[in-house]
Amino acid sequence: MEIKKVCVIGAGTMGNGITQVVAQAGYDTAMVDIKQEFLDRGMNAIKGSLARVVKKGTITQADADKVVARIKTYTDMKAGAGDADYVIEAVFEKAEVKQPVLKQLDEVCLERTIIASNTSSIPISLLSSATKRPQKVVGLHFFNPVPVMKLIEVVKSLTVSEETIATSVALGKSLGKEPVVVKDSPGFIANRIANLAANEALKVLEEGLASAEDIDKVCRLAFNWPMGLLQMTDLVGADVVMDLGESIYKETGWERYKPAPLLKRMVESGYLGNKAGKGIYTMFGPKQ
Ligand SMILES: NC(=O)c1ccc[n+]([C@@H]2O[C@H](COP(=O)([O-])OP(=O)(O)OC[C@H]3O[C@@H](n4cnc5c(N)ncnc54)[C@H](O)[C@@H]3O)[C@@H](O)[C@H]2O)c1
Repeated sequence: MEIKKVCVIGAGTMGNGITQVVAQAGYDTAMVDIKQEFLDRGMNAIKGSLARVVKKGTITQADADKVVARIKTYTDMKAGAGDADYVIEAVFEKAEVKQPVLKQLDEVCLERTIIASNTSSIPISLLSSATKRPQKVVGLHFFNPVPVMKLIEVVKSLTVSEETIATSVALGKSLGKEPVVVKDSPGFIANRIANLAANEALKVLEEGLASAEDIDKVCRLAFNWPMGLLQMTDLVGADVVMDLGESIYKETGWERYKPAPLLKRMVESGYLGNKAGKGIYTMFGPKQ
């Protein structure tokens, strides 16, 4: 299936990153959010990200201007998505927010349009049940920061068609990414592994086996990871890590995903990480 126009729903962290890579790949691009100020903020993030690439010399200012010119923004779903060939939803990670968005997309989109969700943990089968086109609903799980991270998990529900999967893989490749097809299972693959490891690092900290810095040093030096798991938890957000663990545990009953008590205490105390200006390193890192 030929794709000319891609519409991204949500102009937040992931939505604006996805919009940028889609426009950079040359597609007619639309970005939809509920308020113009959110769209403006998303466009500013895209311009800032492109400015950094121009500064590095990877693209010229003229190229960056063309990318920005390719993006149109809308607060009306039908205006943005009504003539798109492929739609990628990146709104809040709540089924009660995503399902009505999927339902509305099903109503306003062309019959042939594929609707993808960037969900990190909500089953694609649950989201596709909000539409009358489950064979055309797929997971397209990008990683943060989108312009940098190579992986896309293409999530295959029980009802999605092979054609939808093939088109989604081809789209991912055209964005310069490396798509991996995974089954519709809690946490998919990357988050399932990362969440377990981060939770274990929290338990190691709680048991006092070493300092936060040294636990992260072990991660970096033993596994050659660019950052330790505690630093990653501060970056991603303790609440996000806890919610994901809880949702996998709730769905599967796997005890190992039960959030570490320390993780829960951090969330309750508002130590959510970088976005809150305080996190694991503020509490347990070296004192200034
Ligand atoms: N942040 C990450 O590291 C990350 C990584 C992978 C996947 N994800 C997933 O991507 C999705 C988006 O996450 P995010 O971090 O970008 O969130 P975010 O909070 O930064 O952005 C969400 C955006 O969606 C908009 N929105 C909400 N309801 C809407 C609606 N009905 N119509 C249009 N826009 C609407 C909001 O106004 C907001 O701008 C979530 O499903 C999340 O799990 C996030």
